[in-house]
Amino acid sequence: MSTPKKVLMLPGDGIGPEVMRQVQRVMDWMTKKRGVNFDVTEGLIGGASIDAHNNPLTDETLAMAMEADAVLLGAVGGPKWDNLPFDIKPERGLLKIRKEMGLFANLRPALVFDALVGASTLKEEVVKGLDIMILRELTGGIYFGQPRGIEERDGVRVGFNTLIYSEPEVERIARVAFDMAMKRNKRLCSVDKANVLESTVLWREVVERVAKDFPEVEVSHMYVDNAAMQLVRNPKQFDVMVTTNMFGDILSDCAAMLTGSLGMLPSASLGAADANGKRRALYEPVHGSAPDIAGQDIANPLATLLSFAMMLRYSFDMGDDATMIETAVQNVLKGGLRTGDIMQPGMARVSTSVMGESVISELNKIA
Ligand code: IPM
Ligand code: MG
Repeated sequence: MSTPKKVLMLPGDGIGPEVMRQVQRVMDWMTKKRGVNFDVTEGLIGGASIDAHNNPLTDETLAMAMEADAVLLGAVGGPKWDNLPFDIKPERGLLKIRKEMGLFANLRPALVFDALVGASTLKEEVVKGLDIMILRELTGGIYFGQPRGIEERDGVRVGFNTLIYSEPEVERIARVAFDMAMKRNKRLCSVDKANVLESTVLWREVVERVAKDFPEVEVSHMYVDNAAMQLVRNPKQFDVMVTTNMFGDILSDCAAMLTGSLGMLPSASLGAADANGKRRALYEPVHGSAPDIAGQDIANPLATLLSFAMMLRYSFDMGDDATMIETAVQNVLKGGLRTGDIMQPGMARVSTSVMGESVISELNKIA
């Protein structure tokens, strides 16, 4: 057996636990068939943690995350916790774990599987073969800027947040983006609002400066409103996109939908590399906890399985195994199996667990 790979599973809320179970099955398969040694622990986050500890992310879970080689998260949130005070809402747990682990680089690939071209609301020629990577800055910007709050000023209540980026914060995400562009098609589009916001005037300057170290990469800059439009008009013009925390939040949902369903999209959030080149990392599907369909075994587990594949690639240097899982997913889709979110005429509607089982049957064929 290989050295143990310490994985912390945080299933979270809603459909989180049921989609996570399918990953557990693939992990068991990899242990049995390929001798991979996973040392798995499980923890609570979000609403599940609020119910147990009145806190969306306890110090204990955070310490486990810091200890792990990689974290896999399901989803957080749901109507049950919507009316809680802002500071203990499930989402605070997610934001806190990203911040505390220093996961500043959020990779959100939007890939259209051939078998799913018809599931997109856009025309086939617009999305067929689409493969873009959105790099979202994840621990800065308006999500975390100080001061923030709600207070009374001159007898009027005001709510305020601060959009702030330092040069080092922009530089480190820009470097990840350029590295990524070098490994792909050497095209990078940086998205900002430099016609209005000083914070992104600085953003653009720093991206330009970093670009000098990557002369092979063709860089462009786009205002975020235009980028949103271009993503829908002609998404294939993009290869790698890099942007701020909030713009990335919005654009990645938009890009995700080009692929037909949020249920297909994985993500990786990475920290800075240590002396050995290792990065703290958390992997999660882009979709939410989908409380309306939770517990019914009908959710799409593929985004979580694909997030696990990203874990193999980025945290464990197991690119071949990652590709194997991605191929298995592709084959299952080619075979006509669909969960409800990606259902198309003439296809077979299957449950979460049958989808997981089918991925394993495919793995057995191609391994
Ligand atoms: C995401 C989500 C989160 C975010 C929420 C749940 C806090 O929308 O991961 O995109 O805004 O980052
Ligand atoms: Mg979002």
